[in-house]
Amino acid sequence: MDYDKTDMPRGYDRGRNYSAAQLERWISIISQSVRGLATPTILDLGCGTGRYSTALAQHLGARVIASDPSQKMLAQARSKRDPRVTYIRARGEFLPIRDKLVDMVFMSMVFHHFNDRIQVLQECHRVLRKRGFVCLRAGTVEQIENYAYVPFFPQTRPLLQRTLDSRGFIEATFRDRGFDLDRHQLVPSEAAQNWHAYAERLGYRADSILVQLSDRDFDGGLEAVRRHAATAPRDQPVVELIDFFVFRSA
Ligand SMILES: C[S@@+](CC[C@H](N)C(=O)[O-])C[C@H]1O[C@@H](n2cnc3c(N)ncnc32)[C@H](O)[C@@H]1O
Repeated sequence: MDYDKTDMPRGYDRGRNYSAAQLERWISIISQSVRGLATPTILDLGCGTGRYSTALAQHLGARVIASDPSQKMLAQARSKRDPRVTYIRARGEFLPIRDKLVDMVFMSMVFHHFNDRIQVLQECHRVLRKRGFVCLRAGTVEQIENYAYVPFFPQTRPLLQRTLDSRGFIEATFRDRGFDLDRHQLVPSEAAQNWHAYAERLGYRADSILVQLSDRDFDGGLEAVRRHAATAPRDQPVVELIDFFVFRSA
């Protein structure tokens, strides 16, 4: 999807931002792969508004190359200003990065957007040092029923089925391109601290599936989430299971 043709970049951070605790939890999970490297070089591929880029630089003492094809998403990312982060406009299929420069490629919620997944993995292999890591956060078809908005927006089911990959497909695609699976886990991830906050976030429609719904379907679903929020306990967080994979280049 071309994010520059949508309004998503404007509301993305308000619709998708993490609490500090949630971000720290993810950084801690990701950091296990580069522990021990003094100044790792990390490529945040498909960085979007950079919600991970600056955190990776700050928490891991890393040099971060943050790449995305969308000018609007990159403009948001650049506004976060961190001297350790270099922003480049590029698609994953053609990375303007020299061979073996990178210790870890990090990809969050971008794998399903690639036009040519195999070419992206070839590029990852090329820019990674030997035994370098790919850390991948992704949605998968197996988890569709765990995504919090799905029961409220039933029209998203076929869209998610068409868009997301299965866990098996992701693992096989990496294996066929010369990556070993190091680990896979399903990480419970807080989408919002309660259903009220979740409804507010959804209102920004910062999601490539929700933007494909008709306004009528979207408004109907949002209303259903708000009704649910009115009766849900205020201290009940909205939690989803997110697939996290770590691969190593052979
Ligand atoms: C859902 S956003 C994820 C952004 C960020 N990684 C995060 O987790 O917040 C998907 C991003 O993938 C980018 N994207 C789409 N096609 C891409 C491609 N071929 N190569 C790299 N990034 C791409 C979009 O521009 C968008 O910024």
